[in-house]
Amino acid sequence: MEGFIPKNTAKINNMPTLPYAIEEAVNRLRVNISFLGSEVKKIMVISSMPDEGKSFVTMQLWRQMAEANVRSILLDMDLRKSVTVDKYQIEQEKGKILGMSYYLANDISLEDCVLRTDIGKGDILPNVDNVVNPSMLLEGHKFERTLKELEEYYRYIFIDSPPLNLVSDGEKIGSLCDGAILVVRAGETSKSIVRNSIRQLERANCPLVGIVLSRAKTGTGGYYAKKYGGYYGNKYYGSKSNYYYGYGAQK
Ligand SMILES: Nc1ncnc2c1ncn2[C@@H]1O[C@H](COP(=O)(O)OP(=O)(O)OP(=O)(O)O)[C@@H](O)[C@H]1O
Ligand SMILES: [Mg+2]
Repeated sequence: MEGFIPKNTAKINNMPTLPYAIEEAVNRLRVNISFLGSEVKKIMVISSMPDEGKSFVTMQLWRQMAEANVRSILLDMDLRKSVTVDKYQIEQEKGKILGMSYYLANDISLEDCVLRTDIGKGDILPNVDNVVNPSMLLEGHKFERTLKELEEYYRYIFIDSPPLNLVSDGEKIGSLCDGAILVVRAGETSKSIVRNSIRQLERANCPLVGIVLSRAKTGTGGYYAKKYGGYYGNKYYGSKSNYYYGYGAQK
């Protein structure tokens, strides 16, 4: 970790405690990720459609990994409509958060933009300024160079992405990652759409390392429901190339 110390620190003021079952599901995902071997560092969390739970899974996986004292960074690559800073109330100690799109568009260093958080060994680069056409920011070499640089400093780089159906950004990001976790919303996303996403990942040469069945209904209440208006479970299926997925696994 020598050679890279973010200049800014930040507090994450709204990180609700998850119901036990969800915390456990994320924990299983974390453990399975760590079995993937040292080559797998850059992991994109992706889904076919909007609103399937990508950002949630990325954030919770990153948090648990960081709390387990594994140096991890979360990159917010949802450059069009990220809500990360508001939702989790991320507060930089001094000055304003510059954010991912600003970082990519300007001649500025990682040290100036990455935030060292109060969560274990977790750093984060959220997005602040949402842009209309971020594809150009991804096409430039800065993003690619950044991933190479970050690999030197972090055990895991978790990348929150826009959905695959929207634009080609997801595929582009995937082509630069070591693996993808596909989030599928329980009972909502059809098999053909999921199949199509898997093909897109293959095209991008990005191995699928796991599938999360998210937002499966498990009950009606709980603390998390009050914060986010719904109580859902996450299920995690498989790891490495040995994956499978289930539908309507509502328990
Ligand atoms: N396991 C869960 N339990 C309860 N709510 C959840 C869960 N996962 C996601 N949600 C809620 O579902 C909504 C969508 O989740 P999230 O923002 O993570 O999806 P997304 O795939 O990142 O969406 P987008 O495509 O807009 O980026 C949010 O309101 C989130 O709080
Ligand atoms: Mg999101």
